Amino acid sequence: MRVVILGSGTGSNARAILQAQRDGQLGRAEVVQIIADKTEAGILQHGPDFGVPARYLDPAPFKTKLEGAGEDRYIEFIEGLTPDLIVLAGFMRVIKPRFINRFAGKIINLHPSLLPSFPGLDGIGQAWRRGVKISGCTVHYVTAEVDGGPIIDQEPVRIEPDDTLPSFAMKIHAAEHRLLPQVIARLSEACGD
Ligand code: GRF
Repeated sequence: MRVVILGSGTGSNARAILQAQRDGQLGRAEVVQIIADKTEAGILQHGPDFGVPARYLDPAPFKTKLEGAGEDRYIEFIEGLTPDLIVLAGFMRVIKPRFINRFAGKIINLHPSLLPSFPGLDGIGQAWRRGVKISGCTVHYVTAEVDGGPIIDQEPVRIEPDDTLPSFAMKIHAAEHRLLPQVIARLSEACGD
């Protein structure tokens, strides 16, 4: 199963996926490309460490969504990679219907809360400020509704009395680093390619 990872940030989840692949824990999945929409994104550093190509791809003209010429560039480049799965791992940009329809059923996203609670930006901070006692992370299929597609799996995280926002955030990220590679491995076993 050919996997393409899209991200905008530090790429700790991309690294967890690549490490799982190196450790033989990613099932029949193979990461073939990492793409970032920011030239300075840390995610671009991880590919070379694992022998996987990583590149910046210009998302212009919009700042918070992938539409227009940028969307064309992404579709054309990703089509050339013939992916079976596109993983949004901290890709901080709204994906629009043309892209979603082109890769229908093949795009998954990682979100740092137990959806449908706390969709949108800063799911960790939202949960913390609301004072919930259990939050977690979610992997779901991407549809036109932001953070609203069918849920594939979730991992809960309990907020203990001595937690701080940073310690809570660390627990969420640790859960993400377990959950996302597990989900990819499971999807790869179900995928014919
Ligand atoms: C993760 O918390 C993910 O849930 C959110 O963005 C963050 C990406 O982190 N969508 P990283 O770039 O993988 O370290």
